Amino acid sequence: MAVGIFDSGLGGLTVLEAAQARLPQVDFLYFGDSANAPYGVRDADDVHKLTRACVESLWARGCDLVILACNTASAAALRRMQEAGVPPGKRVLGVFVPLIEALTERRWGDNSPPREVAVKHVALFATPATVASRAFQRELAFRAIGVDVEAQACGGVVDAIEDGDMILAEALVRSHVDALKRKMPAPEAAILGCTHYPLMDRTFQTALGPDVKVFSQADLVAESLADYLARYPQMAGSGAPGYLTTGDPARVSDRATQFLRRQITFRAA
Ligand code: DGL
Repeated sequence: MAVGIFDSGLGGLTVLEAAQARLPQVDFLYFGDSANAPYGVRDADDVHKLTRACVESLWARGCDLVILACNTASAAALRRMQEAGVPPGKRVLGVFVPLIEALTERRWGDNSPPREVAVKHVALFATPATVASRAFQRELAFRAIGVDVEAQACGGVVDAIEDGDMILAEALVRSHVDALKRKMPAPEAAILGCTHYPLMDRTFQTALGPDVKVFSQADLVAESLADYLARYPQMAGSGAPGYLTTGDPARVSDRATQFLRRQITFRAA
């Protein structure tokens, strides 16, 4: 049994890497649905159906706890899956809440009413599906009042990253930041609301300027996972770690090795 980490493709590796660094004693089974990536241009029903099938596959492989290391899946599928009920002893968690807790300076499980927070102007960069879902704004409204969120749907960035075309990805990030700044000239904080984007974090920070605090999910999710496993240690396991893909294992392994700068070998799911 190992903790399952799911993403549409390679983006969740940013979360996996942080989780491995924070929890070296825990085994992880990574699942990338590369054959169907990107999810960010699909409709919510489609994302829900694909996500559900992959999570069920991870549960069936002995992962009692699955992390949706994908904002698009978290936005479109998590609530539906939890409301439909998960099998006994299984859990699925998303990546929004740790990010929003950091932005609103709340502790895990703080269910007090929403209150004013220091940051008032927030730029959200995410996939078109995540932006359309408004899930981030909904979760934020449960915790904070008076925060102005301007969302920028970053079309094309995930495809470029999955294709390994980092020059195109950089050009697209710069143009999406420009578009955001036309709508909100002086954001105080920026949320990288897609797990692929930490691979471009320097480009985001440079384009946004040094005064903008860029929140990226990997470390925040790893910290929340550590907190969760300290409370529910039976959800962590040992054995059967690895990397699974619905895409071409050789191609996906090459890209992953390039991103993480260490040998990563995917097997066919
Ligand atoms: N990395 C994913 C996310 O966090 C999904 C990207 C995609 O497949 O479009 O949203």
